[in-house]
Amino acid sequence: AEPTAGQLRTPIVAVLGHVDHGKTTLLDTIRGSAVTEGEAGAITQHIGSTAVPLDVISEIAGKLVDPEDFDLPGLLFIDTPGHHSFSTLRSRGGALADIAIVVVDVTDGFQPQTIEALDILKRTQTPFVVAANKVDTLPGWNPDDVEPIQSAIDRQSDRVESDLNERLYEIIGELSDEGFSADMYWRVQNFQNNIGVVPLSAMTGEGVPDLLTVLMGLSQRFLKEEMSIDVGGPGAGTVLEVTEERGFGTTLDAIVYDGTVREDDRIVVGGVNEPIVTEVRALLKPKPLSEIRTEKEFDTVEAVAAADGIKIAAPDLDDAMAGAPIRVVRDRDLEEVIEEVQAELAEIEVGTEEEGVTVKADTLGSLEAISGTLEDEEIPIMHAEVGDVAPRDVRMAETADDPKHQAILAFGVDVLEDARRLAEQEDVDIFEDDVIYQLVEDYDEHVTAIEE
Ligand code: GTP
Ligand code: MG
Repeated sequence: AEPTAGQLRTPIVAVLGHVDHGKTTLLDTIRGSAVTEGEAGAITQHIGSTAVPLDVISEIAGKLVDPEDFDLPGLLFIDTPGHHSFSTLRSRGGALADIAIVVVDVTDGFQPQTIEALDILKRTQTPFVVAANKVDTLPGWNPDDVEPIQSAIDRQSDRVESDLNERLYEIIGELSDEGFSADMYWRVQNFQNNIGVVPLSAMTGEGVPDLLTVLMGLSQRFLKEEMSIDVGGPGAGTVLEVTEERGFGTTLDAIVYDGTVREDDRIVVGGVNEPIVTEVRALLKPKPLSEIRTEKEFDTVEAVAAADGIKIAAPDLDDAMAGAPIRVVRDRDLEEVIEEVQAELAEIEVGTEEEGVTVKADTLGSLEAISGTLEDEEIPIMHAEVGDVAPRDVRMAETADDPKHQAILAFGVDVLEDARRLAEQEDVDIFEDDVIYQLVEDYDEHVTAIEE
């Protein structure tokens, strides 16, 4: 339905963290609790995201959230499968996410992707909360159903409680090493300066009410102004994925974070070579879970308002890029909108220098994330681009004066066979990894070896 004037938009919550620390399980539990609360129909599995309306959050959070205190419509959660699409989501200088949950396994503690997540949240200045997950795996933990964490802790033996505290303080210490002042969430007075840590179990649901309460509180207090947008205005969004869909051809899985996108809207999308100008043929939403066995996988909708996930079917999308901006033209000047999209792409196109390394990445978001990390490490970049490593990248890397810069950092992309051969021949080093942190570390070690 078209939004009404004055309506606040839904904050976007990104769920981030190391592989297997429980991001998806946490969202499953939030969805599942809603089912238990008889609200199954209210929760919708959107493209790349899960929308949870305010009344459902308040049902799950119980007495911790009073809907009267809030005027935000709910929360839109974005799961980030593994590390990979994490960076895709961090599109263009600003964060797509308004707030974030960093999930950390209490037993496993900080891991490379935890640190990477924190680095990016730091850079984009995105407020976040830490979910210290899997408390039920502590030896001797006495589990129960979804309930506030305080009552769950009260049920534990002294030994389990002190074990938990020890691990939580370890996480708080790690956060401090990364430059964040943090404490147990119930001790945090000012969430603007301090990170709250919420112990919970995504499996049992213990502590999940607390997490939702902190998220609503954070959004209401710090995001209200940002959420006061013209939700009826021309839409803006980000491409999460470019996918083939039977019957629809190439489609975009997108998050709309501003305004409204309507059927038949003319849109401009960032493309590999130049902005694509096209017209929306259909806006597709997955069928609700209960109807999944019907013939068609998708329902079509006439319009989608921020913030929401949507699949956009339109002609000429083959060159669209994950991480690229989407803009609705509507009654604006087409040239101006094209320029807007180009400017946004240029912003991500990393500040390159005359001397430095060559970087290739799978999406604009990951390109941006790597460049940020390299900048922090004071490693200059001569050339940065989306796409597989091709011979011309080797030719480019070869032109660096400093031998330590005759290197290609390849993130989540393939190295073409002839490029690999040429690199060997020309003494250009290629580093490949799907973890930014690891990629940069490997390169650092290489530099140290050269310098010794
Ligand atoms: P990626 O998407 O691969 O990054 O992982 P993820 O963070 O989404 O982790 P996922 O939710 O898939 O959970 C990984 C494993 O941990 C699964 O086997 C879950 O059942 C388990 N798990 C997640 N949360 C909990 C928890 O709170 N307690 C217990 N005991 N197991 C959990
Ligand atoms: Mg997952």
